[in-house]
Amino acid sequence: MCGIVGAIRAHHNVVDFLTDGLKRLEYRGYDSSGIAVQTGNKITRVRRVGRVQLMENAAREKGVHGHIGIGHTRWATHGGVTEPNAHPHISGGLIAVVHNGIIENFEEERARLQSLGYTFESQTDTEVIAHSVKHEYERNGHNLFAAVEAACARFHGAYAIGVIADDNHKEMVVARMGCPLLVAFGNEETFIASDVSAVIAFTRNIACLDDGDIALLNANGIEKLLDKNGQAAERKVKVSELSLASLELGPYSHFMQKEIHEQPRAIADTAEVFLDGGFEPENFGTTAREVFAGIDSIKILACGTSYYSALTGKYWLESIAKIPTDVEIASEYRYRDVIANPKQLVITISQSGETLDTMEALKYAQSLGQTHSLSICNVLESALPRESELVLYTRAGAEIGVASTKAFTTQLVVLFGLAVTLGKMRGHVGEEQARAYTEELRQLPGSIQHVMNLEPQIAAWAQKFAEKSNALFLGRGIHYPVALEGALKLKEITYIHAEAYPAGELKHGPLALVDENMPVVVIAPHDKLLDKVKANMQEVSARGGELFVFADLDSNFTESEGVHVIRTPRHVGDLSPILHTIPVQLLSYHAALARGTDGDKPRNLAKSVTVE
Ligand code: AGP
Repeated sequence: MCGIVGAIRAHHNVVDFLTDGLKRLEYRGYDSSGIAVQTGNKITRVRRVGRVQLMENAAREKGVHGHIGIGHTRWATHGGVTEPNAHPHISGGLIAVVHNGIIENFEEERARLQSLGYTFESQTDTEVIAHSVKHEYERNGHNLFAAVEAACARFHGAYAIGVIADDNHKEMVVARMGCPLLVAFGNEETFIASDVSAVIAFTRNIACLDDGDIALLNANGIEKLLDKNGQAAERKVKVSELSLASLELGPYSHFMQKEIHEQPRAIADTAEVFLDGGFEPENFGTTAREVFAGIDSIKILACGTSYYSALTGKYWLESIAKIPTDVEIASEYRYRDVIANPKQLVITISQSGETLDTMEALKYAQSLGQTHSLSICNVLESALPRESELVLYTRAGAEIGVASTKAFTTQLVVLFGLAVTLGKMRGHVGEEQARAYTEELRQLPGSIQHVMNLEPQIAAWAQKFAEKSNALFLGRGIHYPVALEGALKLKEITYIHAEAYPAGELKHGPLALVDENMPVVVIAPHDKLLDKVKANMQEVSARGGELFVFADLDSNFTESEGVHVIRTPRHVGDLSPILHTIPVQLLSYHAALARGTDGDKPRNLAKSVTVE
């Protein structure tokens, strides 16, 4: 949440980089943005409420020009969405700061600084960083590194910060604790960013900072870096392989649309590891065979859509690998009295790899002695895989739309692969069965492409949904998490209130909501629970509810008054939840189009949730 950028460019105007980088980071938060640039002997700041484009226009109009600067796109935590609360925050015209994260003890710090004579213009926690650094800077004779070091020692919480001073034309100081921050190296230019997407148009050479790092930067790179123990350290420079094209819209109108349509490719890329290398533990890390051999159960921790993929994975892990699997929302687990089991494998699932609750849940599990961990993640080198014993990356490519789509279906591919791998190791999956699973995986991208062809029919349904205020999603068994995901997608990007239930639960309460104004989406493929689902649908029809059924050809549904049916081409066996996710994604996307909401940047949300 919140995106930060910064640059020292010996020969170029930093404003070009700052605005381009902020636009690429806008998915992290987009209620306001700002830049602070050292122009001559003063800091010039431009801030605007709304999208980065508005701020960029204002900066261009003002003719802001300089060689060192910082920028920020905000997702509000402390204080409303106003210009005074937008970053960068400046103290006494001397120090400018951008910050991602939360300073938990900001109230105490604010009181301390007020008693020292500082006045506050914003309601943010960040302003305490600006004043605190300035205070130290003036006390220590204008040593920016030492000032940031002394200020950071006072803060509790999470932060990634970039700091410049009006009288230092060559250097910037950055610090990281719990929030992502990287340094990127060009030709006599050095950049900072919350993630690599902001810099790859300028350079691919990057170094990720570690928690506790404080670094002094100049145009030639890192001048000095101290780690969390105050020791001099170096960070490895890597070449990012992220393609610029994956960050561009291309022929699509929205990233969500693009990312939905990229799924056949993303799934094929992710499945490759199992198709080429077989269902072997080594796919998850060199020590995975030994780790998997010693576990007696699995705990999966995740948030949001990643939590729903975990719920789906539980079905496969228990039915294919016969291993007891428990799934928990990370933000709940981390505050619960947990009975630790050192023989349990802790799996974290996250698109971004930097969701704070998931990260903290992993750390909590580790602190209880649960040492075996596996991360399923989409962003290379992000925090979660770095803290985990084993990792398998989804190969979805950059996911920019706030609503997760291809990350979800590729997570499912990895979970399925894990279930078969463990099933083989535990003697529940024989060679022939493994070959059948391989074939299912191989055919999946093609089947998904067929589902994409249903888009016009789904878009027509979406017109009807766009007029509604509520919707119910029903599924049973392994398709219940698909219903949950469908409801989340719809509420997230259309603001229509949507709930999901296992269809059998309907008569235990939610049926009371059903009338002619309640569209009910049913995920009803041809599986062993289909007859039960059909009975549940009767309960809806009998109350005048309108049913929108996603079934496959084998389900044998016919349309009738109040019952609309879209058929996916054929039943794809165990992988049916992946296939049936596509229609609910398309339904939400088209309903958002019809309602005129911004599916890529829904109100109040941000892509990476790096705060509690
Ligand atoms: C899904 O559409 C969401 N925007 C959200 O629920 C997301 O899945 C959740 O915040 C977890 O993110 P992560 O996968 O990056 O950890």
